[in-house]
Amino acid sequence: MQRQEEEKERAAMVVRRGEAESNRSVEEEALFKVLRKRHACRNFEQRELPDKILQKLAYAAHRAPTGGNAPYRFVIVIKDPKQLKMIKLVSPGYFGDTRAAIFVCTDTRVAYRGKEDSAELICASYDAGAAAENVVLAAYSMGLGASFIKSYSEAAVARILDLPEGCRTELQVSVGYPAKDEPKALKKRNGSTNTFLDRYGKLWDGSGDNSTTASEVRNVNFVN
Ligand SMILES: Cc1cc2nc3c(=O)[nH]c(=O)nc-3n(C[C@H](O)[C@H](O)[C@H](O)COP(=O)(O)O)c2cc1C
Repeated sequence: MQRQEEEKERAAMVVRRGEAESNRSVEEEALFKVLRKRHACRNFEQRELPDKILQKLAYAAHRAPTGGNAPYRFVIVIKDPKQLKMIKLVSPGYFGDTRAAIFVCTDTRVAYRGKEDSAELICASYDAGAAAENVVLAAYSMGLGASFIKSYSEAAVARILDLPEGCRTELQVSVGYPAKDEPKALKKRNGSTNTFLDRYGKLWDGSGDNSTTASEVRNVNFVN
């Protein structure tokens, strides 16, 4: 009787393991699909984004890490058409008629800790990049398009957003439904996917022991 129970439990364990394995591969596939799809979207449909989606995008931003887990990052979701219009006016790098944008900002008063070169202050821009990429990937996972935008007047934007002294924007992300004729992702340029193994100059394509030197191969695509 006990043996039967043990066998039943073992069989259940095998099934659970198989399920976990297959869930993992589904997650992996979904993530890599989004990574392949992501690109800078600059043509959008004129369609409003529901608050539920904007909330998810803000959540994605906040899921990114900050140096030392310090709470110096905040985001501002823009959906008021008047605010968006003003922001676009001072953002030469803002393309497409989106209905929303998200700013990733730093409260330098929290990151400063009395030191101009505090680790948090130095990390803040990296953390903002991570948050913005989370927003972009989340957007693509929901069938939206998005783009980083850094080409804007920081002083003008700070005024439009009523930012208090000590707070700064790091970057903005435009987001919306991609237009039907939206161009596909650009091909990566030569040299932009170089991966070296163990040290600079030993190009690696990720398989076996076929590494080669930079002088022999100029570009190896790690993942297409
Ligand atoms: C930090 C940063 C700032 C960027 N600023 C702008 C911008 O102001 N306007 C714009 O159209 N694209 C901007 N981009 C998008 C890049 O031009 C784009 O990601 C790059 O050309 C690669 O193309 P892909 O994203 O389609 O792969 C920015 C990207 C990054 C990472």
